[in-house]
Amino acid sequence: MHKEIGIDLGSATMLISTAEEGIIAKEPTVVAIGRDSNRLYSIGGEAERDAADAAKNLRLVHPLRDGIVADAEATRTMIQHAMHLTCGNLIIKPRVLIGIPFDLSDEEEALIEWTAARAGARETFLVYTPVAAMAGMGLSFESAVLIVDIGATRTSLMLTGGGKILYKDTVAVGGDSFDNAIADYLLNRHRMKISTRSARIVKNKIGTLWINQEDRRIDIKGKQAEDGMPATVRLSSHEMFDALEEPTAKLIAAVCEAINSIPSVHVGEVFSRGILLCGGASQLDGLDKMISGVTGVNARVVDRPDEVVAVGLGKILADLPTSMKNEKINISQRCMRLDL
Ligand SMILES: Nc1ncnc2c1ncn2[C@@H]1O[C@H](COP(=O)(O)OP(=O)(O)OP(=O)(O)O)[C@@H](O)[C@H]1O
Ligand SMILES: [Mg+2]
Repeated sequence: MHKEIGIDLGSATMLISTAEEGIIAKEPTVVAIGRDSNRLYSIGGEAERDAADAAKNLRLVHPLRDGIVADAEATRTMIQHAMHLTCGNLIIKPRVLIGIPFDLSDEEEALIEWTAARAGARETFLVYTPVAAMAGMGLSFESAVLIVDIGATRTSLMLTGGGKILYKDTVAVGGDSFDNAIADYLLNRHRMKISTRSARIVKNKIGTLWINQEDRRIDIKGKQAEDGMPATVRLSSHEMFDALEEPTAKLIAAVCEAINSIPSVHVGEVFSRGILLCGGASQLDGLDKMISGVTGVNARVVDRPDEVVAVGLGKILADLPTSMKNEKINISQRCMRLDL
């Protein structure tokens, strides 16, 4: 039985890890609630499958929005689910290490701690997700590194050097912004309305920012904007460059600002390592090449980009000195001094 667990509680995906086993589960961050009963029906992937069955009369609730607790009860359910998957019957309450974004207010951080306590955590520690990502990449905190974590709704940028966070920023761009941009493009250019689910399918099948990519095409179904009649449009991957322009420009502007903040003493190390991209949305085809091309600094997607935060949470749990486990600490501050 595990006494300590790490939870990467993303807006789209929750990953659970332990010091001993690394990642042990991955679930969509969502719960299904009965429309009539208002009772919890199922959690995670099961909830998504159940909600697709209209006969079950369920609504999906997303516990987090933009990295912030949007529904405390649903968040408690998710955290409790993570604990059950890891620790079984919760006779021994676990300590929980949760990854959080940079820009939460004290109240928002406190809400996460309070929610985890209500879910049954004996103690809750918080760590910034890019700090956990760095641990997951096996990098020492002394290294000069620029990390860009592109999640579902937001991107966190962090520059470290000399054991300190030298720059941190969060921008409201993520994988969902790419989906929305594709839906907007279809409406404006092809006068067709599609769901965000269909937009995500387009992104996953032909989404690319690499202009030299061989052209690929798909037929996408939707409704004509004017009269709501069913319509089909043949989309080309070469159109994706235009469709994705706005969120890409916003993301690149944030990366440029981070690059401009690198102190000259660390420029050589950061540039030779390259900008490290992680988070599910960093896998958008050609995004790395686009960032490299525009900024002139090599950018690369790290190994297991969507799992590296959870891997890091497991490593932080494993590396925490016992003395630190005996005190109530906020790891997001204390990690700065750890040689991870
Ligand atoms: N292969 C892929 N190509 C493009 N986008 C992808 C791919 N795989 C996942 N994504 C996108 O990544 C996003 C989810 O990323 P991730 O799991 O890192 O988010 P999260 O951590 O739950 O969210 P956040 O950090 O914003 O709270 C979704 O928008 C999804 O569409
Ligand atoms: Mg994330």
